[in-house]
Amino acid sequence: MDFNFKGRDIINGYDFTTQELCHIMDTAMIYEKRVKSGEAIKDMEGMLVATLFFEPSTRTRLSFESAMLSLGGQVIGFSGADSSSAVKGETIADTIEVVNGYADIIAMRHPKEGAPVVASMHTAVPLINAGDGGHFHPTQTLADLLTIHHEKGTFDNLTIGLCGDLKYGRTVHSLIEAMSRYKDIQFVLISPEELKIPGFIRYNVFENQGVSYTEVSSLEEAMPKLDVLYMTRIQRERFDDPWEYERLKDSYVLDTEKMKLAKGKMCVLHPLPRVNEISVKVDDDPRAAYFRQALNGKYMRMALILKLLDEAARNPAKEAIDTTGLEYDRVCRNPKCITQTEQELPQLFRCTDKAADIHRCIYCEQRA
Ligand code: CP
Repeated sequence: MDFNFKGRDIINGYDFTTQELCHIMDTAMIYEKRVKSGEAIKDMEGMLVATLFFEPSTRTRLSFESAMLSLGGQVIGFSGADSSSAVKGETIADTIEVVNGYADIIAMRHPKEGAPVVASMHTAVPLINAGDGGHFHPTQTLADLLTIHHEKGTFDNLTIGLCGDLKYGRTVHSLIEAMSRYKDIQFVLISPEELKIPGFIRYNVFENQGVSYTEVSSLEEAMPKLDVLYMTRIQRERFDDPWEYERLKDSYVLDTEKMKLAKGKMCVLHPLPRVNEISVKVDDDPRAAYFRQALNGKYMRMALILKLLDEAARNPAKEAIDTTGLEYDRVCRNPKCITQTEQELPQLFRCTDKAADIHRCIYCEQRA
């Protein structure tokens, strides 16, 4: 099968077809073997990735950089907004216009939801969303998928429990979007009332595609049914009220007692970092896959860089964002949306339900 990654940006969980995901996984596994054999890979020699991290990161930034270096390429970038001209008030649009001239591919993390949509409008080189606020984190999903493939051997007929902060957990949003395409997937959403899955995922996945899900508050009750348990950290940095975080932070702790309730072949994933939602004693359980998952992230990012750069080199033209049918006459009220800080941005909305008069911001996907 021919794949066309021409002018592609990677912004959310739906940005790949099922065949493309499979192809990226196959590529990742080939390169994993080549790296482990000690081969000096030169496939990206002369190519440069820019890692623009306006928010802290350990895994995502370092695995992008490790991925490019392992491919024979080079890296530039910054690891915090404070060490970029964002502190002087530079917009994302201007930053990206400039970096676009310095690098062949850009991986960007930003605290505002929808920031990668803005960045993608200002770069001719591929733009990868390395996490935008509490919205999406599609390359974490690549790591998650390879881990599920290795641990379960299939993507079909799985009951997947997602536990913790489902409201602000961007990895959860991207994973649900990606996994919803497979056959007979059941999601069990385990969270406190205050941290339930947000409206745009309900709309994109559960309402639009009729994917099966249940919502519960007890991890113990859910455990025996699960094939995959995806634990998440309560995202302190997204809370407006620190007391609300203090009240909710220990909602779920996976320990060895709870692991006794699970299937013998269940696997535990976590995007990391963890705080205390998984006891360190669980690390010794062979079902704990989260450190293997972090390493898988490097191989998937190697594959992604290769695909986007190989194809972009052959097809340098990048398509502009299609604004057909978008509406301008509304204002996004999501305080975490990129339109709140980059005030020159046009407010753009897509009608997603004509009968109910529902319009969603094209950057953060919240309702107008
Ligand atoms: N999973 C993940 O995004 O980790 P970092 O925040 O360390 O990049």
